[in-house]
Amino acid sequence: MQIQDFDKIIQKRRSVRVYDETAPFDESVVKRGLDRAVLSPNSSNMQLWEFYWVKSQEVHDSLTKACMGQSAAKTANQLVVFVTRQDKWKERAKWNLANLEKQFEGKELTSRDKRAFDYYRKLMPLVYRYDPFGLNTLLRTIIVFFMGFSKPFLRIRNNGDQRVMTHKSCALAAQTFMMSLASEGYDTCPMEGFDSDLVKKILKLPSIAEITMIVACGIGKPEGIYSERLRVPNEKVIFEV
Ligand SMILES: Cc1cc2nc3c(=O)[nH]c(=O)nc-3n(C[C@H](O)[C@H](O)[C@H](O)COP(=O)(O)O)c2cc1C
Repeated sequence: MQIQDFDKIIQKRRSVRVYDETAPFDESVVKRGLDRAVLSPNSSNMQLWEFYWVKSQEVHDSLTKACMGQSAAKTANQLVVFVTRQDKWKERAKWNLANLEKQFEGKELTSRDKRAFDYYRKLMPLVYRYDPFGLNTLLRTIIVFFMGFSKPFLRIRNNGDQRVMTHKSCALAAQTFMMSLASEGYDTCPMEGFDSDLVKKILKLPSIAEITMIVACGIGKPEGIYSERLRVPNEKVIFEV
């Protein structure tokens, strides 16, 4: 792929808020977008995310209400909900361990290989474990304080840190998805303007799950681009250090 092609994709992707509901919509574009989204970089390859591809009109209508009637949701040909699943950490750590076991089967483990196992056996529980009373937060805060006293140490202490961690990866997946659609001539609009409790109820998600964003997809109408694409000057946000 040429650099110019990538630039075209970047320029093509705008947040489009009005879609042509009558335009032919090729669902396979969404399928490919999701297949690419799962290949996004994600923290420790824990993949604590889920993607809900909304195919039912009833669910679409309910989500539009949860998005407070936003036109992007209402007129979208389809919606995809990007969800974090912090609660799946044990399952995903096990999955990673099983992969390591397969990879190293019959092989004498080097200290580097052993560290890979420790990563999922010891570090992941330390980082992701949570409980309703905050005992793990307390324990982590103490460990972080002592371990990080005289050397760099991962500053994951509380549930806020854990939530940020899972949302980062999920947002990257959403971005991959949007770029994928843009690369195939489709439009999207990421949304965080919604009632998250309602969205979770509609999708029957447990309370620990969180909605990173809902992405509207379709063929945008020209009036769906509300304004010129403006950004603060680069020197306000890009620093050479
Ligand atoms: C996390 C996130 C949440 C957003 N939420 C909404 C939203 O609820 N409704 C909306 O119309 N646009 C939403 N946007 C779109 C932004 O307003 C838009 O990306 C920004 O104005 C820049 O415009 P551009 O995407 O066309 O470059 C959201 C974007 C992001 C990244």
